[in-house]
Amino acid sequence: MTVRINPSILSADFVNLERDIGHISNADFVHVDVMDNHFVPNLTFGPQMVGRILDVARIPLDVHLMIDDNDRWAAGYAEQGAQSVTFHAESTTDPVNLARRIREIGSRVGLAIKPGTRFETVKEIAHEFDQILVMTVEPGFGGQRFMENQLAKIREVSEFKKSSGASFWIEVDGGVDDNTITQAAEAGADTFVAGSAIYSRDNPALAVENLRKLASAHRPH
Ligand code: DX5
Ligand code: ZN
Repeated sequence: MTVRINPSILSADFVNLERDIGHISNADFVHVDVMDNHFVPNLTFGPQMVGRILDVARIPLDVHLMIDDNDRWAAGYAEQGAQSVTFHAESTTDPVNLARRIREIGSRVGLAIKPGTRFETVKEIAHEFDQILVMTVEPGFGGQRFMENQLAKIREVSEFKKSSGASFWIEVDGGVDDNTITQAAEAGADTFVAGSAIYSRDNPALAVENLRKLASAHRPH
């Protein structure tokens, strides 16, 4: 079973991003957390920075937008060449229209939901997306504890995917480490974001491989 490991550079050294992205070139995507200090209480980087990351990264980008006003900003990341652009259901007025715009530009498109948002509320539009991102922490910061009460939601998304014949990826983000990745994989996730669990290690590439092995071994058959 294919699993994807997407290291989050939120836990990398921001003045040595090119070097730190180079350390995880065995990963599937570089996860790039865009925060605007409105949708979440933290601020990271915007289109200019993501453009430079695209210039130097040797693997595709998984852009996770934690911003207001997705209508104004989201498609621009796709236009820049980001291979995957995920926006939050909670800050988007017309998610289907935006998803179609992003796909038309040529990027994969994802829909993220916060821990307090039920999958039920987006189920009907899930087929418009290439990935559903289930947040397992309150978005905004790295290094938080995995919320085990979100496992039921991952199971629900996975069951819906099976029963509806959908092909979207199920991504989890927040508190993913050697222990929690096995739980998320068993619940049906196939794409895993990890920041601190990768960048706190002396050998981030080895951490990626370990996570990949653990997730593969715990995927349901
Ligand atoms: C949090 C971000 C995550 C964050 C995960 O809002 O969306 O991508 O970097 O960090 P860890 O893996 O440390 O929880
Ligand atoms: Zn993220």
